[in-house]
Amino acid sequence: MNRIVFALCMVLLISCGTKKADNKGEEKKLNPNGDSELAVLMRTMHEHAKLLKEEILAGKSLTTYPEEIKTINTAEPTPGMIANKEVFDGFAGLYLSKLDSIYLTDVNIKLQYNHMVNSCVDCHQVHCQGPLPAIRKLYIPIN
Ligand code: HEC
Repeated sequence: MNRIVFALCMVLLISCGTKKADNKGEEKKLNPNGDSELAVLMRTMHEHAKLLKEEILAGKSLTTYPEEIKTINTAEPTPGMIANKEVFDGFAGLYLSKLDSIYLTDVNIKLQYNHMVNSCVDCHQVHCQGPLPAIRKLYIPIN
């Protein structure tokens, strides 16, 4: 029984790994249908967060976020990735509200942005730990 649980955990870890794993044959076997909608959306979210960070550091006005980010609750995940949809939706709602907050303020924008990164981290600690090191790189250091 323990061995089955362990094997399951490994499958989850690998299929939720970073992009580097994409070229491995193992990865293809685990996910024959290619990347899930949610995985693709996550990459969009990640790219957008990087852009925001650049813009904030450069003091530029912020690019609005891609509309599809609002489909986070309905995008199809990799099978087995989300154990509890209610918990996922709670984290997703928090993320969306933190994302909106960045656009609503001129004050403490770095802090608002870091709150959004926190909301990525919070969900990932529960659902998918592979990308955490990449996500943590998004933080803007505040002196
Ligand atoms: C509500 C929970 C939740 C939030 C919030 C969240 N993620 Fe994710 N993330 C997931 C889940 C679940 C997956 C696995 C998706 C799948 O495989 O279908 C994932 C996958 C990823 C991946 C891997 C994608 C791939 O190529 O397979 C990256 C990178 C990522 N997230 C970055 C982020 C970043 C950056 C943020 C914040 C801007 C964020 N995530 C916010 C739950 C979340």
